Amino acid sequence: MKPLRKAVFPVAGLGTRFLPATKAMAKEMLPVVDKPLIQYAVEEARAAGIEQFCMVTGRGKTALVEHFDIAFELEATLRDRDKQDALRNLDGTLVEPGSMVTVRQQVPLGLGHAIWCARAFIGDDPFAVLLPDDLVLADTPCLAQLAAAYRQTGGNVVAVTEVPREHTSRYGILKTGADDGRLVEVTGLVEKPKPAEAPSTLSIIGRYVLMPEVIGELARMDRGAGGEVQLTDGMARLIGRQPFHGLRYEGRRFDCGDKAGFLEAQIAFALKHPELAPAVRAFLRRYVEG
Ligand code: UTP
Repeated sequence: MKPLRKAVFPVAGLGTRFLPATKAMAKEMLPVVDKPLIQYAVEEARAAGIEQFCMVTGRGKTALVEHFDIAFELEATLRDRDKQDALRNLDGTLVEPGSMVTVRQQVPLGLGHAIWCARAFIGDDPFAVLLPDDLVLADTPCLAQLAAAYRQTGGNVVAVTEVPREHTSRYGILKTGADDGRLVEVTGLVEKPKPAEAPSTLSIIGRYVLMPEVIGELARMDRGAGGEVQLTDGMARLIGRQPFHGLRYEGRRFDCGDKAGFLEAQIAFALKHPELAPAVRAFLRRYVEG
């Protein structure tokens, strides 16, 4: 079994649900408390042993790349002014020289197309996919949980969670086989099924460990739900040929591509922040009571 060392971050979406905030700025640069979504995703990948990072970007997304470079003038100024705390706050933004690459999707034809755009980076290796707008608050970072499951099962492993049946048409949904309560065998996948047609209420969230063979399936460029090239459809074609499991991860997931989910993430992460928590708890109480 090849070790998991590569991760792909698709960040070329239009972010229409977050307009006008995302008109000139990438959704993935939106901060939760004090860090942009993309930094949470990169730190989570690093914590799972990822060494090579690929962002699939589009026009107007250069800030995402800048965020992981040295900000020479800023850092020199902070050093001159002896602002050590501020300098330390930049620690999580640095990656090893040469370890982060970008590819352009050019036209946002769907998540499956975005992953296919990273094919040269992926080569013959297993790879992780992290959608930065899915933020997971967990004691063991979500991708590390998936990586551990991958070492156990091999093959494809996706993070899954139960959703209300009336919401199945928002997600990729599993058809399930053997299930030990934590790991579930995937026997089928459907993107955005109507509630009555959904084979289960177990949905995929934005964390995946995938085998490179998915690229060949995505290359067919079949259009699926919403007229987009869907990653779910490409993955579905691997079932039966390779091990394929869903992992009920431990943690709480926030859909930060959605305004309500994003606001909830702010509160949940602020309440976990040692310096902010008391003030946030106090003002929340005032709003709720007032
Ligand atoms: P979303 O479904 O959240 O789409 O994509 P979106 O365009 O970002 O946002 P809305 O729905 O219009 O508000 C899930 C992930 O896939 C990436 C997005 O950047 C996001 O991380 N994506 C989606 C691409 O990289 N390319 C695409 O063509 C579509």
